[in-house]
Amino acid sequence: MAGPVPGGEFAGYEVLSLLGRGGMGSVFLVRNRHLERREALKVLAVDSQGDFAARFGAEARTVASLDHPGIVTVYHHGIDGEIPWFTMQYLEGTDLSGGQRLPLGEVTQIVRQVADALDYAHARGVVHRDVKPANIMVRRDAAGAVERVTVLDFGIARLAGASSLTAADSFVGTLTYAAPETIGGRRDVAAADQYALACTAYELLTGRTPFAGLPTPALLHAQLSEAPPPISRSIPALAGLDHVFARALAKDPAQRYRSCRAFAAALAAGADPATRRQTRVAPVPLPPPPPVGPATTPPPPNRSTITIMLSLIAILIGIAVIAGAILLINRDDSASPAPDVSSSPAGAAASPSGVSPSGAPSSAAAAATWGLVVSPQGRVIRFGHYDSREDLLSKAATYGYDESWGYATFTTGCAAVAHATGVSAGSAAYYTARGATRTAASQAAVDRSQQATGRTSSTVSTLCVGDSLD
Ligand SMILES: Nc1ncnc2c1ncn2[C@@H]1O[C@H](COP(=O)(O)OP(=O)(O)OP(=O)(O)O)[C@@H](O)[C@H]1O
Ligand SMILES: [Mg+2]
Repeated sequence: MAGPVPGGEFAGYEVLSLLGRGGMGSVFLVRNRHLERREALKVLAVDSQGDFAARFGAEARTVASLDHPGIVTVYHHGIDGEIPWFTMQYLEGTDLSGGQRLPLGEVTQIVRQVADALDYAHARGVVHRDVKPANIMVRRDAAGAVERVTVLDFGIARLAGASSLTAADSFVGTLTYAAPETIGGRRDVAAADQYALACTAYELLTGRTPFAGLPTPALLHAQLSEAPPPISRSIPALAGLDHVFARALAKDPAQRYRSCRAFAAALAAGADPATRRQTRVAPVPLPPPPPVGPATTPPPPNRSTITIMLSLIAILIGIAVIAGAILLINRDDSASPAPDVSSSPAGAAASPSGVSPSGAPSSAAAAATWGLVVSPQGRVIRFGHYDSREDLLSKAATYGYDESWGYATFTTGCAAVAHATGVSAGSAAYYTARGATRTAASQAAVDRSQQATGRTSSTVSTLCVGDSLD
C-alpha cells in the first residue's frame, strides 16, 4: 500500500496536505470523516517487520495515556500496508526548529512549560528521548505572545531506535541534543531529557546549540567529554546562566538538576531581572566610557581606601555566594519547584510568563497550589486548594475538563477571571496576582483582566486564597 498523498485517502482518513517531513517520518493534515475534525497523521519510516506491531501498539498506548495540556494527544494508531501510523491532535502554530533566537522571557516561559510536561511523563515512567526545538510546537496570540506550548513525538525515538530504520537519513534522537549517557547506550534516563531541554534552551537563546558546527565524530566526542562553552561567551549579558547550563549539561546525569522543573526554575532565577525585561536578547551595549579630562576626573583613591573597598567587595561577594547557595539548595530540595503562578495557554487571552502579572517574581517553593478551572462558557467551575496543578486538572476532568477549558494556578494572592455567560474560554482572560494585602492583589488581577478583555468589572470575578466558590 502506498503512503499518504494529499488529495488521497490513507487508513480511512482524507489526506489534506503534507505538514512536513522529519528524520523519522512525515506528518500530514488529515480529515477524520466520522468526527468531522482535522487531525495530524504521522507515518513512520521504520521497518515494521518482526515484533514491531506489538511494540508499536504498546508504545502508542503508553503515549496515548499521557494526559497533559503540554503533551500532544495521540488518538489512534495502526499499520497499513506495512506503514506504521498514528493520528494526533492537529496543532496550530509553528515548531521551534527555525533557528531563531527568542527573548529570554519567552525562553524561560517555554522551558517551564516543556519541563512541566516532561516531569509529568517521567513520573509515569515515560521518557521522551528526542527533545529538540522541532518537537516543541508554539502557538501565539494575535499580539504575538506565546499562548500555548506543546511537546510532540513522545517516545517515538524509542520505537525507531528499537527497529532497523529504512530511511537513509533516519536517526535515533538527534545527536546535537543527545546526552552522553544515551550516546553511550543507556536508554530511558529521564535526566537525558533535561540535557536535551538544556541544549534546546541554549539554542533558543543564542541561535546555536552548545556544540554546533562540529562534524559528527567531533560532536560525538564533545557530547561525551567536553565541557560546553559558557553561554556568556555568546551573550555576555547571560553570565548569570552559566552555572545553570553547566549543571543541566553535566556529563554525569546524577550531577544535573533533580527534575526538569528544577532546571526551569533555576533558569528563571538565574536570569538577571534587568535582562529579563528586555524584549529581545542581544548583547547588552557597554555603557559609554566616563568623560576624560583633568577638570572632571576625581582624585584617585588612596591605598587605604582601596583596601577598605576591596574588603567590602569581598564581604559582599561572600554574602551573595552563601545566599545563592542557600537559594539553590532550597530550590532543588523543593519537590515541585514550578513557578507558583501560571495560566493555561488554552484559555488565556494573554498569559503571564513565569513572573506574576503583578510584576513580582515567582517564589520558588510552592507550599500549596490554589487553582481555578474555567469552562468554555467562561464560568469558573472549580476553585480550591490542590496538591498540584495535575491534581487540579485531574479533579477538573470529572467535570469534563479538556483543552478547550482554561485554568490558572497560584500559591498566594488572588486570581481574576474576566468572563460572561456565552463567552468562550478562548476569549476570556484570567490573571493571578500576589500582593501584600488581599485587596491590592485582587485589584491587580482585576485590572489586568479588564485591560486584556476590555470588559468592565461587572464581568470580572475575583477569587483569593481562602475564598469559597459559592
Ligand atoms: N500534531 C501536529 N500538528 C501540526 N503540525 C505537526 C504536528 N506534528 C508534527 N507537525 C509538523 O510536521 C512537521 C514534521 O514533523 P516531524 O515530527 O516529522 O519532524 P521533526 O520533528 O523535524 O523530525 P522527527 O521525525 O525527528 O520528529 C513539522 O513541521 C512539525 O511541526
Ligand atoms: Mg517531530
